[in-house]
Amino acid sequence: MARVFSGIQPSGELHIGNYLGAVENWVRLQHQHDCLFSVVDLHAITQAYDPATLSQRTIDMAVGLFASGLDSERAIVFVQSHVPEHAELNWLLNTVTPLGELERQTQFKDKAQRQESVPAGLLNYPVLQAADVLLYEATLVPVGEDQLQHLELMREIARRWNSRFADGFTFPEPQALLSTAKRVLGLDGQAKMSKSLGNTIGLFESPETIWEKLKPAATDPARVTRKDPGNPDVCNIFTIHQGFSPPDTIKLVAHNCRTAGWGCLDCKRVLADNMIAALTPIRERAEALRAKPRTVTDLLRGGAAKARAIARRTMGQVRRRMGLLGEADG
Ligand code: TRP
Repeated sequence: MARVFSGIQPSGELHIGNYLGAVENWVRLQHQHDCLFSVVDLHAITQAYDPATLSQRTIDMAVGLFASGLDSERAIVFVQSHVPEHAELNWLLNTVTPLGELERQTQFKDKAQRQESVPAGLLNYPVLQAADVLLYEATLVPVGEDQLQHLELMREIARRWNSRFADGFTFPEPQALLSTAKRVLGLDGQAKMSKSLGNTIGLFESPETIWEKLKPAATDPARVTRKDPGNPDVCNIFTIHQGFSPPDTIKLVAHNCRTAGWGCLDCKRVLADNMIAALTPIRERAEALRAKPRTVTDLLRGGAAKARAIARRTMGQVRRRMGLLGEADG
C-alpha cells in the first residue's frame, strides 16, 4: 500500500475552501492508502503569529479534521511538533539542500517581500516540508498546485541525500497527488478563500449563517440584472455548487444560469440547501468532540505515538548513514 502524507497549517476552524480543496480528498484517501495527516504547527511559526492562540488553533484544526471524517483507526492524525523527529530531520536535510534552490522558491519570495526582517525559518520552510514527508518514506503527497515547487525541491533533496549517503536505505522520491477540485475563491469572488481575509464560510457555520453569507456573495460580475444570462464558468458560486451539489443539480444550475431561467438568488438557495445538508453532520460531530475536549487531545496523542514509531526507525537509519555516533554504540 502506498504511503500518503499531507499537512495543513493550524489556522483554526476549517472553511469550505480547505474542505473542498484538501480535507474531503484526505477522507477519501484514508480508505485507499496508508495515510498520515499532520497539523503543521512548526510551519505556522515561520511567519508572524500569536503564540497565545496557537494551541487553540491547533486543537480547532484537529477538531475540524476529525469532524470532517478523518478516522484515527484508518489514518494517523497528529500534531507535527509532537514528533520531534520532524525538526531533527529538517536539520539534517538542511545540510544537503542548496541555498540557491531555497531562494528561488516563489512562496518564499512572496512571503519575504511582505516582511521587514526575514527569518531563516521562512527560507527553510520547504526543507521542513521535505522532512515531514521523507520521515515516513511517503510516496504520495496530496497538495494544491501552489505546492508543486516545494514538491520538486523535496525530490531534489531526497536525490541529493541518496547520492551522498544511501547504503541499503534510500528515501523514495515523493509524487504530488494533485487535487482535481477547482479552487474556491472567497465570497468576494476576488482573492482565494482565507480566514485572514474574512471571506470564508466556516465548516461549522449554522444554517442561518450559511444563508446570510451566501446571499450577498459575488457571482458572475457581468450578470447585472435578473434578466441577464450568466456564465457559470466564471462564477464562484457555481464552483461551490460543484463541491456540494449532485451532478444533475449542477447541470440544471448551469442551464438555468445561461438561460437566465434562475436568478442568482434562486441558484444560491439550492446551494444553501445542499451545503447545509452536507455540513450539518460535520457541525454536529464537531460539537460532540468539543463537548469532550479530552477526546481530541487523546486522539492526537495516539496519532503522535504511531507517527513517532515510524519516525524513530527512519531516523535510526539516517543518523547511522550520516555518520553520527549512536548513544548505544560501544
Ligand atoms: N506547505 C503546505 C501548505 O501550506 C503544508 C504542509 C506542510 C505540507 N508540510 C507538508 C503539505 C507536507 C504536504 C506535505 O499547504
